[in-house]
Amino acid sequence: EKDGYEHFMLKEIAEQPRAVADTLRGRFDTSGQILLDEVRMSDQDFRDVDKVFIVACGTSYHAGMVAKYAIEHWVRLPCEVELASEFRYRDPVLDRSTLVIVISQSGETMDTLMALRHARNQKARVLAISNTVGSTIPRESDAVLYTRAGIEVAVASTKAFLTQLAACYLVGLHLAAVRGIKYADEVGAVVAELAAAPDKIAEVLAAMEPVRELARSMGTADRALFIGRHVGYPVALEGALKLKELAYMHAEGFAAGELKHGPISLIEAGTPVVVVVPSPRGRSLLHDKVVSNIQEVKARGATVIAIAEEGDAVVAPHVDHTVFTPRVPTLLAPLLTAVPLQVFACELAAAKGLDIDQPRNLAKSVTVE
Ligand code: F6R
Repeated sequence: EKDGYEHFMLKEIAEQPRAVADTLRGRFDTSGQILLDEVRMSDQDFRDVDKVFIVACGTSYHAGMVAKYAIEHWVRLPCEVELASEFRYRDPVLDRSTLVIVISQSGETMDTLMALRHARNQKARVLAISNTVGSTIPRESDAVLYTRAGIEVAVASTKAFLTQLAACYLVGLHLAAVRGIKYADEVGAVVAELAAAPDKIAEVLAAMEPVRELARSMGTADRALFIGRHVGYPVALEGALKLKELAYMHAEGFAAGELKHGPISLIEAGTPVVVVVPSPRGRSLLHDKVVSNIQEVKARGATVIAIAEEGDAVVAPHVDHTVFTPRVPTLLAPLLTAVPLQVFACELAAAKGLDIDQPRNLAKSVTVE
């Protein structure tokens, strides 16, 4: 059932265009209107929300971090994202008008389940984003949106992550549309971009050979840093997590702006730094800031690998390697920029002869707290 792939993870990475297309299928119409009747929340329910919490663990938490940027921008609602293992013990302020979005591929993660029970006890409304039909988390939630990624066998999450992102975008766009806020008129255009994402993910996948070569050439590195800003920050965290779990390398993700507050002292000659570069179009200030972060680490001898948007002519002269991804609106970029980082970690682990699908000490579904 690996369909000729050597590992399930490789198969699941390759399946991502199809998986994201499945998440999106039937959930908007040709006029760009979002159709989410299946989640069992009325438009009025969505209008009653005055605050959003997103709660998850691991990779699903990183998807939630991206969702926060999208929801705040599109919906103009306060949105917090929280690790499930911290949420419940922090006495969060929840009430009837709080929407808690729990994200769980397996639908069985104990920390996330306990967080959802706590939220419901406090009368908050809980919407689950999950890949597993009939699992505990969707069953105990008020509403559910399934990601339809198909079974994910590899312990390291890949297609689940991309489909969680797509589901979060749908929820954000739906909230924006029903609440009729300022950005509601952007919804149609973003929906069209979202619909085009599966083909763009396929484009990224078709250009991964240089990334594999790069990973193979990193055999002696024992650590790596990942930096990004805005939605590139959660992507950096996700890239580092993939490298930790698969290649057993000490990898750390940072918000690029935090470098000078400590982490830059980790940089030595040859330290690999992966930089998730935002699009130079639109938010050019963000792009300029990341370019200066690149110069800062370069000046300390880092080997810089940039994930940048095609057509970005500014970044290449400053870095050692550039991986280009297709043009896409900034908020949707994680659907593309996460892919090279998955491939990078997978290939590096393969080069080290490690068990790609079943890394040591990890379980696919974490049903203990
Ligand atoms: C990382 C990974 C884990 C899971 C986390 C949450 O590749 O797979 O970090 O994302 O254990 O799992 P779910 O989404 O099933 O709640």
